[in-house]
Amino acid sequence: MNRLIAPSVLSADFAHLEQDLQMINRSEADWLHIDVMDGTFVPNISFGFPLMKPFKQYCTKPLDVHLMIVHPEKYVERFCDAGAWSVGFHLEAVDDPLPVLGLIKAKGVRTCLTINPDIDVNRLLPYLGQVDMVLLMSVFAGFGGQKFIPETMDKIRFVRSEIDRRGLSTLIEIDGGVNTSNAPELFAAGADVLVAGSAVFGAPDPELAIRQMKKC
Ligand code: DX5
Ligand code: ZN
Repeated sequence: MNRLIAPSVLSADFAHLEQDLQMINRSEADWLHIDVMDGTFVPNISFGFPLMKPFKQYCTKPLDVHLMIVHPEKYVERFCDAGAWSVGFHLEAVDDPLPVLGLIKAKGVRTCLTINPDIDVNRLLPYLGQVDMVLLMSVFAGFGGQKFIPETMDKIRFVRSEIDRRGLSTLIEIDGGVNTSNAPELFAAGADVLVAGSAVFGAPDPELAIRQMKKC
């Protein structure tokens, strides 16, 4: 069982990005989670390609890109070329995820398929064996600092049992409202990777918060 932590840079202080990335480098964080929002798939706009350069330059941890965009097929290759270690997009943003997954795989980059909380988790099942990771959103994609949706717990157990039953090594990532209090329960339910934005960057001691979530 994995216990990986991926702080979301969305909650970093962009006026002092280099310092925040150095904190991540020093910390026990496993990946840096990168939230890309287009203002169409979600009602918010974050950042795009220009920031991949400083992320890649200053962060020593793998870059876990979460695309909250329409037409991911147009952009996944550029995120791969910009240094992404993993590229994920939303199942509900595409008609057929397989060609998009193919574009990412052709670049030698890890794949992730994501669903919002209102998407039937059964829709992920046909793809469990074709992706490196599935990301179950535990808030509606678009904003940091939202409250964790408790129904996510049963979805984690369900996907975990499917992955184990089929003998797959697909990772389960959880994103939204994760904190030091719910991290133990999330790992116990079968999550492999926890994304945390405000619970890390808003903590008085972000490195300690990361350590606490990981070692819980
Ligand atoms: C939300 C993003 C999350 C967000 C998490 O759309 O996908 O990664 O940054 O933020 P917190 O941890 O504050 O809920
Ligand atoms: Zn995210």
